[in-house]
Amino acid sequence: SMAPNGCPVSPRAAAFDPFDRPYQLDPAEALRWSREQEPVFYSPRLGYWVVSRYDDIKAIFRDNLTFSPSIALEKITPASDEALAVLERYDYGMNRTLVNEDEPAHMARRRELLDAFTPEALEAHAPMVRRLVREKLDAIIDRGRADLVAEMFWEVPLTVALHFLGVPEEDMEQLRRFSVAHTLNTWGRPSPEQQVEVAEGVGKFWQYSGEVLRKMQARPEGHGWMYDMIEKNRHKPDIVTDNYLHSMMMAIIVAAHETTALATANAFRQLLSRPAVWADLCDNPALIPAAAEECLRHSGSVVAWRRIATREVEVGGVTIPEGGRILMVTASGNHDPAHFENPDELDIYRDNAVDHLTFGYGSHQCMGKNLGRMEMRIFLEEFTRRLPHLELEEQEFTFLPNTSFRGPEALWVRWDPVQNPERRDP
Ligand code: HEM
Repeated sequence: SMAPNGCPVSPRAAAFDPFDRPYQLDPAEALRWSREQEPVFYSPRLGYWVVSRYDDIKAIFRDNLTFSPSIALEKITPASDEALAVLERYDYGMNRTLVNEDEPAHMARRRELLDAFTPEALEAHAPMVRRLVREKLDAIIDRGRADLVAEMFWEVPLTVALHFLGVPEEDMEQLRRFSVAHTLNTWGRPSPEQQVEVAEGVGKFWQYSGEVLRKMQARPEGHGWMYDMIEKNRHKPDIVTDNYLHSMMMAIIVAAHETTALATANAFRQLLSRPAVWADLCDNPALIPAAAEECLRHSGSVVAWRRIATREVEVGGVTIPEGGRILMVTASGNHDPAHFENPDELDIYRDNAVDHLTFGYGSHQCMGKNLGRMEMRIFLEEFTRRLPHLELEEQEFTFLPNTSFRGPEALWVRWDPVQNPERRDP
């Protein structure tokens, strides 16, 4: 078959499907052939141009005029008519936020909303993060066995996210279910029956976000990033628009917690499966920030991100036509030997781990990256100190089937409570 640029599609490109097992289990490994032989290819099954090398991905991120982020939150699997009818019933109107906004609107808005991310502003959240992690650890420390995802890896980042945003902590389980629906809706391939169910979840999430927003608008004395937005909306409605507020309310609840929850689970999985590295962290906690960064490179929670070509353009020697949809597999770029020596090795002493693409790059680079890093660091500090004898259980890992957000759905660990340092040395 032919790609939209008139070139033939290779057999491997034709066979590529991100919803197949290899990509779901290990996206970087699933694209090794591409990194080595065909770094930019058209995937007929996805209808996207897939880009797998570090330099090509970075070049795309760098030029957000040629490569517009407008499709970053588009449904990767088109909605069925039934699903569309459901969304309409809920008056679903998710549109531009920051991550999928074009220039010049994006930068004008981003600039208005930076105050919440100064180092001092973020540092003010650290004691709360530590308290939450400690409480969750207290609850399991004598148990000897736990699924850390269920016990705390999603709930702590969700609580932190809501606090950071100023959103009242309400039904956490419900919010988690909404997040899963949003991820499947945006980055998954739900079956026709699932489509309707997912649309129900997304529609409810949209309504819920609107209600929370109205409640918050009624008490403008509140604190948090959403309140900054409400305030800017009041004074600069042309920059921080009404639809932006509602769309952002829904998108940010997910962006601010799911990414961090999955990144933490990935990091614990990688570090605990290398007992010598874990022991190094226990002996020398100063290594923790570098270890977290290397985990974000080696096993990031965002593994692919999207752009659309606004004109015909060449990437890695391949001509992508105007309107070409692009899937940058950042997890693959993070394993590109042209940028990272022995890329498949988890090396907490690597000096360029921070170059990874897990937070994106350029003008849209993740605004919350230092909050995410802080949460990972505090999780690791508390666990290495209080449960240095933690072990990973043998288990089959499962993942929510989608192109972009990746982390195990459960992470079972065990330890001998008799050996807990605080028991031996209270
Ligand atoms: C954007 C990843 C945590 C808020 C992004 C992007 C990625 C990403 C890949 C798109 C970047 C681009 O297009 O270049 C992550 C990961 C996280 C994380 C892996 C955790 C480990 C957070 C948190 C917050 C947050 C905790 C909020 C407090 C945002 C915002 C944007 C963004 C607002 C849009 C920035 C813009 O378009 O100007 N993030 N994120 N993220 N992230 Fe995160």
